[in-house]
Amino acid sequence: MKVVITRKIPDRIKQLLDNECTTYMWNEELEPMPRDLLLQQIADADALFTNVSDRIDKEVFQAASKLKVVSTMAVGFDNIDIEEATRRGILVGHTPDVLSEAVADLTFALILATARKIFEGMNYIKDGCWRGWGPMLLTGQNVYNATLGIIGMGRIGKKVARRATGFDMKILYHNRNRRKELEQELGAQYRPLDDLLRSSDIIVMLAPATPETYRMIGKREFSIMKPNAIFINTSRGSNVDESALITALKERQIWGAGLDVFEKEPISPEHPLLSLENVVVLPHIGSATLETRINMAMITAQNILHGLRGEPLLHCVNPRVVT
Ligand code: GLV
Repeated sequence: MKVVITRKIPDRIKQLLDNECTTYMWNEELEPMPRDLLLQQIADADALFTNVSDRIDKEVFQAASKLKVVSTMAVGFDNIDIEEATRRGILVGHTPDVLSEAVADLTFALILATARKIFEGMNYIKDGCWRGWGPMLLTGQNVYNATLGIIGMGRIGKKVARRATGFDMKILYHNRNRRKELEQELGAQYRPLDDLLRSSDIIVMLAPATPETYRMIGKREFSIMKPNAIFINTSRGSNVDESALITALKERQIWGAGLDVFEKEPISPEHPLLSLENVVVLPHIGSATLETRINMAMITAQNILHGLRGEPLLHCVNPRVVT
């Protein structure tokens, strides 16, 4: 059995696959595997170890006559044509749960960094501006006691809400389905989207990228947010109309933004978001703790091994595929 691995992964994870399969690994940590090489290598592959930056579309499936399992080292699978995979009887695995705490931590890091101007403060010192203590110097916003609006109350949303209880925040949420158990457990209150947007001091986007969530936050949505609103996105850039966000920040319709994801990644140092005040940007590192990434890689490999052995995947996106 042949496995194509589209990025350099830790040796001991690769070894797990090598024990049972022949592997082809693109040996770069930061550069995506070139498309033509992927199309060439996938031709006789039984499984694919992929990640958020590969586009696994019809063309890839067409080039892969033996493919049985696609396993992505991510919870999100919007980069994979699931319908096409399912139609062809190909299992798709992903890595939910194991990353929820790390992403919730990073979401809170962005909330705090934006609300308390952490990077502005550090740059202020680096730029040699610090002359002394100032009564109104670098004043930010309270996080404790603020109203937090969570859009997408899934596994990660729940972990963010739990952290918010420690900050005595009022928790509002919007989700496809009401989560009555979380309303009881965490005191979260369900709100229609517009109500949430109008009432929240801090808005966190955590919905998965689907056709329904594509640019669900745009010009109109920013225009009804509070002027002190802080907008955080640790889900997918496509959930937000980025140029509307830039306008909202420029025109001070909202107060700040903390972003780990973008419409097109990577963004360059010249990206307009970087020229704005009170925007914190990160290079899509939501789940990037060493322990979490090792666990994700391990589950990605296990999903492949299970699929190739004909066993159920640990986490399958399309379990009804009959192999
Ligand atoms: C990362 O963005 C993931 O989906 O795990």
